[in-house]
Amino acid sequence: MATIPAANDWWRSAVVYQVYPRSFADSNGDGIGDIRGIIEHLDHLVFLGVDALWISPWYPSPLADGGYDVSDYCDINPDFGTLDDADALVTRAHELGLRIIIDLVPNHSSEEHPWFKEALAAVPGSPERDRYIFRDGHGVNGELPPNNWPSVFGGSAWQRITESDGTPGQWYLHFFDVSQPDWNWKNPEVVKEFDRILKFWFDRGVDGFRIDVANSMVKESGLPDLPENEEIGELVGNSPMWDQPGLAPIQRRWRAIADEYQDTPEGPRMFVAEAYLPHDRLVRYLEPDRLHASFNFEFLLSAWSAGSLRTTITESLAAHESVGASATWVLGNHDNFRPVSRYGKQISGLDFSDPAPPHAQFHGTPTDIVLGRRRARAAVMLELALPGGAYVYQGEELGLPEVEDLPDDVLQDPTWERSEHTDRGRDGCRVPLPWSGSEAPYGWSSTDNTWLPIPNTWADWTVEAEKNDPSSFLTLYRTLLAERRDNPALGAGTMRWNDSPDDVLDFSREPNFRCVVNFGDDAVLVMADSVIVASASLENHGELALIGRDQAAWLRS
Ligand code: GLC
Ligand code: CA
Repeated sequence: MATIPAANDWWRSAVVYQVYPRSFADSNGDGIGDIRGIIEHLDHLVFLGVDALWISPWYPSPLADGGYDVSDYCDINPDFGTLDDADALVTRAHELGLRIIIDLVPNHSSEEHPWFKEALAAVPGSPERDRYIFRDGHGVNGELPPNNWPSVFGGSAWQRITESDGTPGQWYLHFFDVSQPDWNWKNPEVVKEFDRILKFWFDRGVDGFRIDVANSMVKESGLPDLPENEEIGELVGNSPMWDQPGLAPIQRRWRAIADEYQDTPEGPRMFVAEAYLPHDRLVRYLEPDRLHASFNFEFLLSAWSAGSLRTTITESLAAHESVGASATWVLGNHDNFRPVSRYGKQISGLDFSDPAPPHAQFHGTPTDIVLGRRRARAAVMLELALPGGAYVYQGEELGLPEVEDLPDDVLQDPTWERSEHTDRGRDGCRVPLPWSGSEAPYGWSSTDNTWLPIPNTWADWTVEAEKNDPSSFLTLYRTLLAERRDNPALGAGTMRWNDSPDDVLDFSREPNFRCVVNFGDDAVLVMADSVIVASASLENHGELALIGRDQAAWLRS
């Protein structure tokens, strides 16, 4: 019987830990992480003190995009295990009080999906083709793509096929890799199929779905060209490719399905949307009859500056409040440069509307890792003190850096090929986790032949080493999460900014909690009854604490 808390709105405060299954733990020595590996290490997540796991795609997949290319939505990739393993994980996690969120990839399938194979074998205009987005090309012989839309991974978003009679044929749309054809969400058969997929997993006890590229599924009718020479940023809210009004009815339909589970032991199920959108557009997805939560990428992409973060936090809270949703905070995931490396860059944030993918701009610039680590410790203290839920990507709790020097020949991210070797992609944040021991693969696997190599310099950053080190990231995360559980001021709720110098963030939450983060050169002196936690040791004289540069403190005021 599940022992998960009965609360219907657990996601409003939850700290969710993202597992990238390929890299979490390899139980059978084949060099690929797997579900048994997750089960065997659930004790780590209990020790850490998170509330839920989000598991990146675990479905059968050729792994052309790390599993975000799904060939069967209702089964498990044999490299990761079986459906029985998945069931065992859900059961065991629930026994331990952990919720499970899995990943839904509704914008596209893999080219290996049986329906895409049927579409290729069928003729233009057939019902099989209509499940995807096929069009005739332009030009005299259809040799030009149907419109000028770019793929997120580089190049055109269209790929021409060869018809089964051997002639050059129609084109299909793929927002991402060429092996990821976009579904046609205007086709009722596709809509129904996803209803079935949701129920398949909800019936097996999963507590929710993370929705991959939740702003992309519906395209503007007629697939009009993007305006030439227009900055992508100016297109936000106005692009025929993204954030279309037709998403709302789909989200409402899914919400109704999740709510049907109200009376089950796990309670109603939830959705968290992945969408790189500004707050005001994003929160429309969180209206009461739509989705429950979304990732706050403006927070993730913000530069390490009090001004930028203050604006992001204030706008974010106001936007979420306007629809009655709980905000969330996130510092990293499997698509973004790891925080300790990012905050060690001279330019530590990105303009949200920049057309380049969020990882591309950090490659090849120097990293001050000592500075980055100091800031990342302060950043998580900020993240976990703010009102709402939070996401922790595996390895953040160990302070793992981005692996910036992976050899070219091990890179797997399709971005590397599609950008013609100009963008090294996202493999650097997907390197397997170090668990124990003094050399690679650090207890991650029994083979040295891991799917991405683990640097030989990570002995101090294993779970085992950090557990016993009071100054480690793991000890900090664990202390913060324990406080968050016990302290009624933390989690969902409200906050109030205190007067402070421009380069200091200082806010209070009731009852009796204050968080101060100093971004400036001058140390700040604060009066407090006691210091609960500090990101680095601070001078503390009775009721006075001195908070230095790039340092954070949680205080009882
Ligand atoms: C999301 C995923 C990313 C994937 C893309 C296409 O952004 O997080 O990893 O490549 O969607 O599915
Ligand atoms: Ca394995």
